[in-house]
Amino acid sequence: MKININGKECIANEGDYVLQVARANDIFIPAICYLNDCSPTLACRMCMVEVDGKRSYACNTKVKDGMQVLSNTQELWDERNAIMQTYCINHPLQCGVCDKSGECELQNFTHKAKVDTQNHWIKEIDRRHKDWGLLQYDPSLCIVCERCITVCKDKIGDNELKTTARGGDAPDKDFKDTMGKDAYAVWTKFQKSLISPQNDKSLECQECGECVSVCPTGALINKNFQYRSNAWELTRIPASNPHSSDCELLYYDIKQKSIKDNSKMIYRVSNDFHFTTLNKAARFAYDITSDCKGKDTAEFNRLVLLFKENKIKNVKFNSYITNEEAYILELLRAKFGFNLVNNEALCFQEFLKTFCSFAGSFYNASSEDVKKSDFIVIAGSFLRHDNPTLSYKVNNAIVMNKGAGLYFHPIKDTKLSKIAKNFVNVACDYGKEAKVLEFILQYFAKDLPQDLGYIKEAFYEEQIEVEVKSKDAEGNEIKEKQTQTIKKSSLAKELGFDEDKLKDLLLKKSNFTLIVGNDYFYHENAKYLAYLLANIQKSTDFKVMLIPPRTNTLGVSLICKLSKACDGFTMGYNERGDFSFSNDEHNNLASSSLIEQEGTFVNYDTRLVPTNAALSFKGYFLNDLANELGLNAKYTIDYTEQLPKDKGFLNIAFDDLTNYYDNAGNNHRGYLINTCEFVKNLNQELQIPQNQQLACECNKDDVVILANPVGNLSKYTNKSSFFNECASLYASKDYLAKHNLKENSMVKIYDDKDEIIIKVVLDKDIENGAYLPTFDDKINPYKFFKTRRYYALNIKEISHE
Ligand code: SF4
Ligand code: SF4
Ligand code: FES
Repeated sequence: MKININGKECIANEGDYVLQVARANDIFIPAICYLNDCSPTLACRMCMVEVDGKRSYACNTKVKDGMQVLSNTQELWDERNAIMQTYCINHPLQCGVCDKSGECELQNFTHKAKVDTQNHWIKEIDRRHKDWGLLQYDPSLCIVCERCITVCKDKIGDNELKTTARGGDAPDKDFKDTMGKDAYAVWTKFQKSLISPQNDKSLECQECGECVSVCPTGALINKNFQYRSNAWELTRIPASNPHSSDCELLYYDIKQKSIKDNSKMIYRVSNDFHFTTLNKAARFAYDITSDCKGKDTAEFNRLVLLFKENKIKNVKFNSYITNEEAYILELLRAKFGFNLVNNEALCFQEFLKTFCSFAGSFYNASSEDVKKSDFIVIAGSFLRHDNPTLSYKVNNAIVMNKGAGLYFHPIKDTKLSKIAKNFVNVACDYGKEAKVLEFILQYFAKDLPQDLGYIKEAFYEEQIEVEVKSKDAEGNEIKEKQTQTIKKSSLAKELGFDEDKLKDLLLKKSNFTLIVGNDYFYHENAKYLAYLLANIQKSTDFKVMLIPPRTNTLGVSLICKLSKACDGFTMGYNERGDFSFSNDEHNNLASSSLIEQEGTFVNYDTRLVPTNAALSFKGYFLNDLANELGLNAKYTIDYTEQLPKDKGFLNIAFDDLTNYYDNAGNNHRGYLINTCEFVKNLNQELQIPQNQQLACECNKDDVVILANPVGNLSKYTNKSSFFNECASLYASKDYLAKHNLKENSMVKIYDDKDEIIIKVVLDKDIENGAYLPTFDDKINPYKFFKTRRYYALNIKEISHE
């Protein structure tokens, strides 16, 4: 359809708001409180427009064909001027020290609305700063636009902020006659309210920092940035989140350290909050660069020789690596014949290949599809811990689309289950992974291959009593009880799930997404799970999304030929090895961190995205090693356009890649991988995998899973001063009670071969389990978790504080 805004004809889609259409067409309509993908709150009224001659608000007015919109009349600007005046009443004149000065929307709109007088006044009230830990709140700067509340509820899913009484006087009624209706209404509301945590005292949230990012003024500030820099002194370096596979667009804001030391440092990470959300790791784990003072030529030459003399049998690496580095490793592997070892990526790669071979295509859902879904199933992922950014998209979809869904996981995540009452946690037991997918096939598949025919037969009969109404000879209604036999799913029964509930959850739902994570890739029955999943993509209405476990697991899986380690000398690239070329503390030769390099990642949406170096690195890059070994590229990013086309890459030069969202929210980041090309060149043997009937030998009360606390995603995030934690066993309240443990006790967790002594701490957001993290290099949890993500471990208290 077409609408007309200020004389410009604009194409619009059914359901769009006028404000969105204006933004997509580069027409400026002032708006303070509205946030993209969130429900309009009508708090600021700055977006007032004339629609077909009537006053309306651009942020909550849906388009209609032929609509005539005016947003620039003098009358509208007069009223906006009055609103901005009310925001400025008693607003402290502290712009000189305010962290938001220079990027403050209150400043900008006061200027735009040409406020040069103050016609109103009101008695001052006590407005002391509030210390909410990481977040600092200055009520005197707050204009109660409610963006912080909205983003936390509609996007993040924590719902941790609320409005509270300000305790100020109501504006004098006489002002009503001298100012516009909207201005008076905004002022009245503003005088009544402030922001506070749900419990009125402290924040109990996941500290993503998104509320600070959306705050138009300096009312909400991160403590670690407060009073450290003026906004205009910072240079913004566009990059991609190096810590998780959303690889979301972010900016490193850098400037020199001090007058004496003009080397650069990162002061904060910022984002384009209209279209992206960052997780805690992306926002705060940025001071993790290697402390490399220069090139260690002797060690470098030793490493070169080790390769040239064919001493290196394995190169062990992880997926916190760019595509270009992965490609260099692959080229070196082809030349020298060593094993490229990355166990986690190998599991994912094998899963992906099996899935693609049987589905005949790549996984077909992206995070954008998740956002559009109204029915979401999550299986095999401890979602908020594995990929917090994707959990935001799930929350956003369920909240905004009035959606429903199922979260199959033995550990209950109480924050996820609070999203909506129609988002149900099914606490299925460990070992039932295949049953979950079989049930989805049983309930939703239109067609199944013969070998899965048993799924269609997995029913049992149940007798139920029903009340039947009929009429007697005189025509009076009578009710009688009758016994009926009904067919029920034995799979649902085994999962402990009431399938009848599903009918209600599915009412009026049409966009289905199934998200699958780590538990399935890292499982001895992974091949069969991938096969079932491929059939779900082929024969149900579900779109399927896999969550690559680490930042660039997908890129590595596309590029590298991976194998298991063999005996012999191992070079660790960012991992421990007989020779470690690494940015960890224990290295023979320092390597660069992802913040010190240019390159690309493939994110979970199968999009290649570029990242830039925020800081320079003085040591050797992998590219330097490659050049000594016979490859030839001036810069690592010279490989960007050589990335293999038969794996879906597009051979576009790094400098030609863009990295932004436009005003309409369209994604202009890198390019989408040609996944058809990858699938076409797979050459997989199509032998149908067997379902291994796994004996669930474990007592489920003893099971511990491998997972990190929300945000502290890896050894890299833990290197940052923001996290810098020692590993603990994170346990639910009921787990502590079942094992008779006290919070913060030292415990021994063990099996018949190994043990770890560790502190046990309470995670109040989970029920029914415990998890052991991977972020602490000093603790090796992998000695227990060899073929699955979960394991039954004995636990014994040693001492308590
Ligand atoms: S703290 Fe900031 S975002 Fe929240 S209501 Fe106040 S001004 Fe708006
Ligand atoms: S930091 Fe994140 S989770 Fe905490 S209140 Fe702000 S938006 Fe909500
Ligand atoms: S942006 Fe529309 S009311 Fe605030």
